[in-house]
Amino acid sequence: MKTVTSSEQPELQQQARAVLRDGWPAFVLRDPLSNSHRDRVTAYFPEYDVTLVEDGEVMADGRAVALRWDGGTATLPEGYDGALVDAVTEHENSVRPDTLCIMAVTVRSDRTGGGLAGKVITALRERAVAAGLHRVIVPVRPPLKAQYPLMPMADFARWKRADGLHLDHWIRTHERLGATVLAPAPRSMVVPGTVANWEKWTGMAFPQSGQYVVPGALDLVTIDCERDHGLYAETNLWMRHL
Ligand SMILES: CC(C)(COP(=O)(O)OP(=O)(O)OC[C@H]1O[C@@H](n2cnc3c(N)ncnc32)[C@H](O)[C@@H]1OP(=O)(O)O)[C@@H](O)C(=O)NCCC(=O)NCCS
Repeated sequence: MKTVTSSEQPELQQQARAVLRDGWPAFVLRDPLSNSHRDRVTAYFPEYDVTLVEDGEVMADGRAVALRWDGGTATLPEGYDGALVDAVTEHENSVRPDTLCIMAVTVRSDRTGGGLAGKVITALRERAVAAGLHRVIVPVRPPLKAQYPLMPMADFARWKRADGLHLDHWIRTHERLGATVLAPAPRSMVVPGTVANWEKWTGMAFPQSGQYVVPGALDLVTIDCERDHGLYAETNLWMRHL
């Protein structure tokens, strides 16, 4: 298996995008800040766009950005969206980064459970060290949390198995690589839309205003039919690798 970056093999980008589309709930891909910053992230941080390729096919994909952070929990970026905005703004203002922030890792659905995510994270960590970034953080989106949308992330973060590792498989992967939990990241990813948008993205009907449990969502989705507005503010979990 080869590790390449988008700058080395841009033609793999389309395949990598297909892997991403399959791996994520539709509404996550509608995050407006993520979409409005994508082109600049690709242009500014090509070396942190890592793809694992086997026989010409993309098996896994990881994306990260570089930003400045002083190591304090209170000064962490405001989650996924905040890290994107900070990284892009700082780059445009020539602020020297010292921290890699891993934004997303996606493994092709027929290749999960084989340790590929760990390889992607390791490749990104190595690139961070090589570039002189001495901290590595990640706003983790634990997939199991979607089964507990009413539970605060601060409580979920403490749920361990008998072997001491976390109940959530994605947090476990980070733990096995030596990462530790820092703090919940409230409003990490904020996705607004019309009621029709939300019905399309979720395949559900929202006949009245209220808070809804949505498959794949870590928190509740708030629907306001009178204002024709739906809002999802997702809490993630900050973890630190280096
Ligand atoms: C989360 C993800 C990146 C993990 O990648 P991976 O390469 O399969 O991870 P690993 O091989 O290290 O597996 C780690 C553990 O997760 C388990 N696992 C993998 N995929 C799983 C799934 N879909 N459901 C439940 N458990 C799963 C593995 O069995 C392993 O369990 P163990 O700790 O008991 O040994 C991958 O499932 C994925 O791409 N998901 C969709 C996108 C996503 O949610 N990304 C994470 C947010 S950035």
